[in-house]
Order: sequence, then C-alpha cells, then structure tokens
Amino acid sequence: MAIFKKKSDADVSLVLPEHIGIIMDGNGRWAKKRFLPRSAGHRAGAKVFRTITRYCSDIGVKYLTVYAFSTENWRRPNDEVSALMGLFKEYLEEALRDFKDDSIVVRFIGDKSQFDDELVKLMVENEEESKNRDGMVLNIAMNYGSRDEIIRAVKAVSEDVKDGRIDIGAIDEKYFSSKLYTAGQPDPDLIIRPSGEYRISNFMLWQSAYTEFVIMNKLWPDFTTEDLDEAIKLFNSRNRRFGGV
Ligand code: FPP
Repeated sequence: MAIFKKKSDADVSLVLPEHIGIIMDGNGRWAKKRFLPRSAGHRAGAKVFRTITRYCSDIGVKYLTVYAFSTENWRRPNDEVSALMGLFKEYLEEALRDFKDDSIVVRFIGDKSQFDDELVKLMVENEEESKNRDGMVLNIAMNYGSRDEIIRAVKAVSEDVKDGRIDIGAIDEKYFSSKLYTAGQPDPDLIIRPSGEYRISNFMLWQSAYTEFVIMNKLWPDFTTEDLDEAIKLFNSRNRRFGGV
C-alpha cells in the first residue's frame, strides 16, 4: 500500500487503501428533500461520481469500484430506470472520455446483456479505448449483483471440471476469484457507504471478506473530497487483523 500525503497538509501521512469501493447511495432522498424528481438526485450523484473518481486517481488510489446500478434496480419505476440509462449514456459519451487525461482504465462489472445496444456499444468502446492506459482502474458496477456474480463463477468452475480443465480437489479461493468480474484485482480494502444505511446491498460479497466498512451520514450528492479524506482517516484508525491476532 502506498503512503498518502494529503496535498493540502504535508504533515498528514496516511496509508492509502489500494482498492476503494463506494455504494453511491442517497440520490433519491437528496432529491426528495429539495422537492425534485429522483432523476435530479441521480444527475447530482453523477457529478459527484466524476469529482470523486478524479480525486481518487489524483491521490494515487489504484482501484476504485462504484456501484451504479444493481441487478435489483430494474424494479424501480420505468421513468427512473430510463432516466438512469440516459444519464449513463451521457456520461459514457462525455465524462468517461475525460478520464483519458488521468489515464484511468474504465471497466464495467456486471451483466451487460440486459442493456440496450447503444449503451452496450458505449460500454465496450470505453473499455477498449482505455484498456492500455496505466492509471487507476475504475470498475463501474452496472447491472451488478454479487450473488449473480458468484453463481456465474460457480457455473464457470463447473464447466472447467466437466471439461477436465481442473480437478475438484484443486479448486481453491484463488481459482474461484479468477472467475469473478474482478479477476486479477486485489480485494477492496475500504468500502464507503454514504447515506447512513448499514447494508451491503449485494455488493462485492466475496471480495469484502476482510474489507473495512465506513458508513457516512451524508447523502451521495453531498459527498465531497473532504468526506473521502475522512473515510481514509477512519480506515487508518482500524486495526486490520485478517482473522489473525
Ligand atoms: C442509489 O441511490 C443510487 C443509484 C441506484 C444510482 C447511482 C448512480 C449514479 C450516482 C450515477 C453514476 C453515473 C455513472 C456514469 C456511473 P437511491 O436512488 O437508492 O437513493 P435513496 O436510497 O435515497 O432513494
């Protein structure tokens, strides 16, 4: 892990989490408080996503995973789902291209097949265009559900056993992890959930076995770079034992 020296305060040196996960929660409540449609909350949340992604890349985070749309979010009213899809398209066309200057590698984790062709094309283009960059890896979890991810991994491992590529006895945690969307990436060190909810909501269940959680009483559209600093400070105050003593 790198040592994080806060730009504004050279005396503060902290261990920087290599991989941060964020459950971007609270957009709806933010909008409701302002008598705005929920879609306005998502739009404000998307702006914050852009700011926080840039900031993470600037301070040297190696992997950032943001939860943008879960396998369960399709149950929301049609107008909210279409507003979100519109927002994703807009961002994939503009903001993500900007990440080029920061050398950010964009990856999507989740099942792309349920999105419309235009969105899938944009997702694939973003992945292709950014894959040879050398900066932070940004995983955008879209139509992502951790249980779904685990079932897919179980199926992939079963195929390998059936076709004789591996013996059942040789299946271990490393092999299983290689079948997840996050194959080859370190597990998240820190997961941040704004909006004060104490839930994991089907996010990185396998990968978060030893992750430190920070719940913050801020709605995502109000989340700032100072809040991220605060979460990193709280992470530094934890004594991570990974099951040892
Ligand atoms: C959860 O808040 C948030 C979402 C389901 C959508 C998150 C999406 C964004 C922030 C847009 C990001 C854009 C890109 C391109 C990645 P909620 O609606 O459940 O809030 P609530 O709990 O207050 O109702």
